Amino acid sequence: MSDPNKVYIFDTSLRDGEQSPGASMNAQEKLEIAKQLALLNVDVIEAGFPVSSKGDFEAVHNIAKEVHGPTICALARAIEKDIKVAAEALEPAKSKRLHTFIATSPIHMEHKLKMKPAEVLAKAGEMVEYAKSLVDEVEFSPEDAGRSEKSFLYEIIELAISKGASSINIPDTVGYTTPMEFGQLIKDIKDNVPNIDQAIISVHCHNDLGLATANSLAALVNGARQVECTVNGIGERAGNASLEEIAMILKTRNDLGLHTEINTKQITRTSKLVSNITGMFVQPNKAIVGANAFAHESGIHQDGVLKHQKTYEIMNPEDVGILATQIPLGPRSGKHALKSRLAQLGFDKTEENLDELYAKFIKLADEKKRVDDRDLFALATNQSLSNESTATFELVHVQVTCGSGNLPTASVMLRDQRDKTNILKGSELGTGPVDAICKCIRKLTKADCTLIEFTVKSVTEGIDSLGEVFIRIQDDKNKGIYSGHAAKTDIVIASAQAYLNATNRYFERKESLKLNPQSAEEIAGV
Ligand code: KIV
Ligand code: ZN
Repeated sequence: MSDPNKVYIFDTSLRDGEQSPGASMNAQEKLEIAKQLALLNVDVIEAGFPVSSKGDFEAVHNIAKEVHGPTICALARAIEKDIKVAAEALEPAKSKRLHTFIATSPIHMEHKLKMKPAEVLAKAGEMVEYAKSLVDEVEFSPEDAGRSEKSFLYEIIELAISKGASSINIPDTVGYTTPMEFGQLIKDIKDNVPNIDQAIISVHCHNDLGLATANSLAALVNGARQVECTVNGIGERAGNASLEEIAMILKTRNDLGLHTEINTKQITRTSKLVSNITGMFVQPNKAIVGANAFAHESGIHQDGVLKHQKTYEIMNPEDVGILATQIPLGPRSGKHALKSRLAQLGFDKTEENLDELYAKFIKLADEKKRVDDRDLFALATNQSLSNESTATFELVHVQVTCGSGNLPTASVMLRDQRDKTNILKGSELGTGPVDAICKCIRKLTKADCTLIEFTVKSVTEGIDSLGEVFIRIQDDKNKGIYSGHAAKTDIVIASAQAYLNATNRYFERKESLKLNPQSAEEIAGV
């Protein structure tokens, strides 16, 4: 390790983050996020768990081929087949890492793995050695380390390092530990594993008790130098440590003497992209990336900030990519102006995409006259998300009638992309316009799903703002959750599009399970 004070950022939004209920992403969406993570300058991207599905294999393989800069990592259980498939998926990457894990806590070994500690130890050693024979860089995780016996942890870590692991990741898999305990655990590992200086210590903290960031920080102070984290803190159950919190803690509290190489100015854009793609709405009071994170409500605070910014602001909003004054574009702005503003925002549109986006931009500019960066961001991410080539159904037409004394009615027309000449038409009554639309789409697509969450928010201030809709639906049979997101000035149409996006994810998932029927059971072991 050249710089002893550098903290390596290992982003697992595309793997653990994708395990958030409803956050599944297709290969194209994962690629788009991975490119943004490269702009954010993360050190490692954990791109997926290739053995889990054909789609995940493809996603990791595409990212390995097309994303340069960060090391690309793939997850594998300590099972030969997982490791072989993960190594194949990583093959095109210039810099690659294979991450293999096995549970080490008494409860996991006895009830989940049904293995004796000696068998777990032998398996870990064998599989790290096998992984190392296929890929240069191997990371090993003793899963549920937070609840494992320390002496067993020391033994398995020492063995993994002796077999070639150069990163040892300590997961608090169930988010049970406290910062004092977790910091002490890292210190004890440093003091008791004889060959620990041959590996970097990584940590992977879950947020079940709201301590993921605090635990990660305690670990860093005690000698860990890699943090596994996710954008917006998404992840299994209550999520993982949040990348933006770790990066901004180390930047703001540089008196800790540690630093990351994160380009913090890309934080806001990355957060929005991940939220839009996963359909995981960011709570307004979320640290660093919530809508209120830099807003001052009380008169005393506003007065203080006007007198001196640092009275109530410990971070500069521009450092996280909240642009100061922006000159909004308008109906007379040309394609060139749009292209260059998009480039400043980090979007690299091809001419073909640009024409389509320009048409949408002009329509929006006619409606609201001033189009600012937040609108452009919503338009541009929405464009990359409405991926008609992989969607099962395309929205052709939607119309609603509602009002006092009227029964809310929706008429919807969809194109079934599996047979482009097949146009489906129908109408439904509902308790309100959105209910009528959702019922109609459900009837036409025959998707056995129920709407469980509907959120609408405006992108900018003002009554003419784009409205963003986040929707979650649940499969009535296996309870899988699918999210959809859309942004339009008309929230009724945005609702229809968001509902259809979620429905398309449901069909995509059904298709991938058909192609890879054993995967659901296989992943259940993780
Ligand atoms: O939480 C966990 O233990 C994991 C491992 C696979 C690292 O995600
Ligand atoms: Zn995890």
